[in-house]
Amino acid sequence: MNLTDRVAVITGGAGGIGAALGRRFAAEGAAAVVLADLDADATRAVAEGIGPVAHGVGLDVTDEAQVRALVDETERRYGRIDLFCANAGVATGGGAEAPDADWERAWRVNVLGHVHSARAVLPAMLRRGQGYLLFTCSAAGVLTAVGDAPYTATKHAAVGLAEWLAITYRDDGVRVSALCPQGVDTPMLAGGLAEGHLGARVIAASGAVLTPDQVADATIAGLAEERFLILPHPEVAGYARRRAEDPDGWQAGLRKLVRRLRAADQYEPPPSPPPPSPWPAASP
Ligand SMILES: NC(=O)c1ccc[n+]([C@@H]2O[C@H](COP(=O)([O-])OP(=O)(O)OC[C@H]3O[C@@H](n4cnc5c(N)ncnc54)[C@H](O)[C@@H]3O)[C@@H](O)[C@H]2O)c1
Repeated sequence: MNLTDRVAVITGGAGGIGAALGRRFAAEGAAAVVLADLDADATRAVAEGIGPVAHGVGLDVTDEAQVRALVDETERRYGRIDLFCANAGVATGGGAEAPDADWERAWRVNVLGHVHSARAVLPAMLRRGQGYLLFTCSAAGVLTAVGDAPYTATKHAAVGLAEWLAITYRDDGVRVSALCPQGVDTPMLAGGLAEGHLGARVIAASGAVLTPDQVADATIAGLAEERFLILPHPEVAGYARRRAEDPDGWQAGLRKLVRRLRAADQYEPPPSPPPPSPWPAASP
């Protein structure tokens, strides 16, 4: 798929990767780019920055009625949706002990948000015999996100759902890609790094932290090839292969990295030497 004359919808479009996708789609000649996010004001500001081709609206992807209304309104205004990017996502920074409310929020945004999108757009795409779903998942969905159990579990579920949809609907003309970046310089990762969160530091130590624009470049290339797995960090393919071939060895390598980062936390620099004394040294 190329973006020329396409109608695209992007959830989580108030900033980060979603906004970069919006800018890039417009630059590629999209007919319309609809950005939708919980943060309606920021989304409208992003759309205004892109220009008349873009339109920003408020949306909560966990509310199926809102997702359906967005899809209906976009189809009414522009006639169709060629590409729906389910990109909204949340991290929790918690482990297994994270409260159920955090697990539920991760599930509702990172998985059910994609389910709601697929349910809303598939009928028209299947009728037309064409359409494209892009799910922003994460390298955490094919590997693991150290320090964030709900994120890891729900991103694995998102990749599983994308794969299921790709297999089920490809022969009916609907294509599906799972975008799986590792570290990207957005508010999501920056917040974790600012707090010194172990998970964010593992991401930063595992490879390059890309800009959202670099992720948008990789997405355009992946969509052009209609590749299922879009990996802006190519090294993730090697990590995933290693994990599949030798799960114990892969986990041992990751544990070693975590131990190294934890040891760095405990490192205390030696006290600085005392300033030189202004007095002459006493003779023995
Ligand atoms: N930043 C990274 O390192 C990284 C790496 C891999 C994958 N991702 C994924 O990329 C996607 C975009 O994240 P980002 O990095 O641009 O961070 P971000 O925090 O800038 O963007 C996430 C957006 O999702 C929106 N959102 C959250 N809950 C929502 C809801 N219920 N309904 C509508 N919108 C909602 C937020 O308001 C925010 O604008 C997410 O799915 C994230 O998991 C990010």
